[in-house]
Amino acid sequence: MTRDEAERKIQDLSLQLEEHNHRYHVQANPQISDREYDELLERLIDLEAQFPDLRLTDSPSQRVGGEPSSEFPTAAHGTPMLSLDNSYSREDVEAFDKRVRGALPDEDIEYVAELKIDGVALSLVYEDSRLVRAVTRGNGVAGDEVTANARTIRSIPLRLRREGVSCEVRGEVYMRTADFDLLNQRQHQNGLPPFANPRNSTAGTLKQQDPKAVAARPLRYFAYWTDSDGATTHLQRMASLEDLGLPVNPATKQCESLKEVFAFYDHFAALRPDLDYEIDGVVIKVNDLEQQERLGFTSKSPRSAMAFKFDAEQAQARLLDIRLQVGRTGVIAPVAVLEPVHVAGSTVQRATLHNADEIERKDIRIGDLVILEKGGDVIPKVVGVVAGERPEEATRYVFPDRCPACDAPTSRIEGEIAVRCANPACVGQLKRRLDHFSGRNAMDIEGLGTAVVEQLVDAGWVQDVGDLYQLTAERLSTLARLGEKSAANLVAAIDASRQRPFDRVLFALGILHVGSTVARTLTRHFPSIEALSCATPQQLEEIDEIGPTIAASVHEFLHDENAATVIEKLRAARVQLENASDGEAGLNPTEEGPLSGKTVVLTGTLQTMSRDHARGLLERMGAKIAGSVSSKTDLVVAGEKAGSKLKKAEALEIEIWSEERLQQSLGEADLNS
Ligand code: IVH
Repeated sequence: MTRDEAERKIQDLSLQLEEHNHRYHVQANPQISDREYDELLERLIDLEAQFPDLRLTDSPSQRVGGEPSSEFPTAAHGTPMLSLDNSYSREDVEAFDKRVRGALPDEDIEYVAELKIDGVALSLVYEDSRLVRAVTRGNGVAGDEVTANARTIRSIPLRLRREGVSCEVRGEVYMRTADFDLLNQRQHQNGLPPFANPRNSTAGTLKQQDPKAVAARPLRYFAYWTDSDGATTHLQRMASLEDLGLPVNPATKQCESLKEVFAFYDHFAALRPDLDYEIDGVVIKVNDLEQQERLGFTSKSPRSAMAFKFDAEQAQARLLDIRLQVGRTGVIAPVAVLEPVHVAGSTVQRATLHNADEIERKDIRIGDLVILEKGGDVIPKVVGVVAGERPEEATRYVFPDRCPACDAPTSRIEGEIAVRCANPACVGQLKRRLDHFSGRNAMDIEGLGTAVVEQLVDAGWVQDVGDLYQLTAERLSTLARLGEKSAANLVAAIDASRQRPFDRVLFALGILHVGSTVARTLTRHFPSIEALSCATPQQLEEIDEIGPTIAASVHEFLHDENAATVIEKLRAARVQLENASDGEAGLNPTEEGPLSGKTVVLTGTLQTMSRDHARGLLERMGAKIAGSVSSKTDLVVAGEKAGSKLKKAEALEIEIWSEERLQQSLGEADLNS
């Protein structure tokens, strides 16, 4: 094929594919079979491979996902992406209506009611009708630029259906519940933890670094706003979005009165369980755009719109059994085993029963028909029993007084409701600690799912998180349902986790009350595990966000013998136990102190403290610790039997401190406690 022919063919195929795409994903009216579509796409990909420079910037081949990126650039929004005020009752909505009418006296007000899609907000920027940028809401002012990922979403047009249009479009990315269920089945098969709900999996998918992985998960889009001009009402705006080729949600109603708004709300509250995507309420908007403008904005939201949220979705199911789950902190939680039931976007078979007291207070018995609720939160909960539905054989549940995982006696701390297993060597706790350690926000070890963790602990190969780094592919491949390839992948994933920054490692350790934000705060003030270990609870509390509970918990953890063993193993495995020295992402400004900006080398044996301890204290004085002496070294702290490093320091005329001199400086810096 000549170059000219190829050029024409590429353009023709690109146009055809986008047209079919629109028919299938936006209009739900396909004209060719999936197979025919795939054949066209393959021909295009082939041609583009032969003539890479002829590929159009908005080529449909990008929908299968481009190259992975290491991080998302931040992009500012043209105008801030605000949120909506929420209301939960008709009175709140009536108050909203009053405010609107009060601000626009004697004017006719018309509302539009639409569904509030429970997904993730995404802004799309089109220039000359081409999609050039897609940005998440972020903090409202700027978000992550996820353009390559957005290009894989088939209902988002890469090219608008009118030429020469430059505009911004805003809307919601979401996942259908059926697709979500399939995705979770796949997660389970791969030994990965399930996503809590379609919204979480949408958010997680959009933030994937590999667009191919995004392409493999069926995300969708509904547009609800654009600045493309010409419209005088919100409804016209929606019509113009449709003209441009964007998918808009068909459930929209023009309402002359609040009565009609409430009817719309009631209708969809009832229909909600049958919809194939999740909604969490209704959005009410003033239809007239000029009125919208005059109503203006508060700092957070437009005064012309309001979200009227639905109550948490409820369902009924038979309680088949009660199982106990030992958490990573030893809390023993009762879990309801239910007959499968569909609620709020997913199939539920487990729900929390909170604690022993709640089971008793609500008189929940095995065999009962129970009411479960799934709100905005992740885990459904049993909220009560359906009266009059108790079968004769229903049995009362007796909370055991031994840990179901390790059989140690359980205890209940004064003033706490939770029943705990106090055995630090409990295998149940260890398994959950490992789950936490490998979690997405922690060490992110792909392939280390619950099924593998169970086997590793039961085989006795892993007694703490540090042991993970000793596992070999050979050994792992002997585990059930783990072939050679998966074993090798798992070892590679464990290996890669050595690169996780210190704050994630600290979070991964699972210290009570230390979530990822607290971990980040701590590492910002204490750049290494040693520095943190040296801190007294009082010193920890000096950080604004750290209160006495967290401070005590961190201090206790770092002075625990078992934790010390784990930390030693992690150190030996070269896991990051200090901030990266390049001050990455602004997370590690070196401590301000008398040694700020100075590079210090420690050598020889110290009498009054360990080398690690000294290192931590020096870091707290602002020093950067180096391993060897060079012309860049500012100071050498020399203990007894210091050898070649001391000699070199002398030769280079670098300042040298004895241990005594160090103690003196520590005293001056108030660090010798
Ligand atoms: S209008 C100023 N319409 O709900 C924000 N938002 O806090 C104007 N949402 O994250 C938003 N469905 O992404 C609007 N039909 C709809 C919506 C909708 C879902 C999301 C939106 C935002 C949140 C509101």
